[in-house]
Amino acid sequence: MKVHYIEKVWIVAAVLLILTLIGTVTYGALGPGVSMLDNEGGIVPDPGNPVESSSFKEPGVYKTGPNTYDVYVLARQFVYRPRKITIPVDSTITFYLTSPDVIHGFEVVGTNVNTMAIPGRIGKFTVNFDQVEEYGLLCHEYCGVGHHLMEGQIEVVPQSQFDATEEST
Ligand code: CUA
Repeated sequence: MKVHYIEKVWIVAAVLLILTLIGTVTYGALGPGVSMLDNEGGIVPDPGNPVESSSFKEPGVYKTGPNTYDVYVLARQFVYRPRKITIPVDSTITFYLTSPDVIHGFEVVGTNVNTMAIPGRIGKFTVNFDQVEEYGLLCHEYCGVGHHLMEGQIEVVPQSQFDATEEST
C-alpha cells in the first residue's frame, strides 16, 4: 500500500497532537504538585456543633514541635476564625479546617493552597511557607449573601517576630 507523502505528514501531525494533549493533561495533574485532600483529617466528633468539638473550640495556632505548628481554622458564614493567622517562616504548618454551616472555600492567594471547608469533615493538609509574606485568604465557594465579604489573612513573619508576639499574648 502506498501512503501519499502529504497523508503521512498529517498522520504524524495527528499523533503528535494526541501525544501533546495527553502530555499537557498529565503535567497538569501531576506537575505542579497539586493533590486532593484525603480522609486523613477524619470527621468532626459532633458535626452539628464543631465549635464545641474539642479541637475547634479555640481555633488558632498551636506549636507541636521545634518547627511545627497545628493551625485550627473554622470557616463560617462569613468569616474565618481566626480571621488573621500569624505563623513563622520556614516552619511546617498542618492545617485543620472545617465549617459549622455550609461549604466554604479556602484559598491562600498566590500559592497552591486551595481547598474547601466541608461541614462535618476535617480537612487536614500540610504547608511550608518559605518566605516572609502576607497572603490573602479567600472563600471561593458561594456560601450565602455575605460570600463576597468572606476573607482572611495569613501573615508569615520571621521567627523572632513570631516569638515576640507569642510572648506578649
Ligand atoms: Cu464562605 Cu463563600
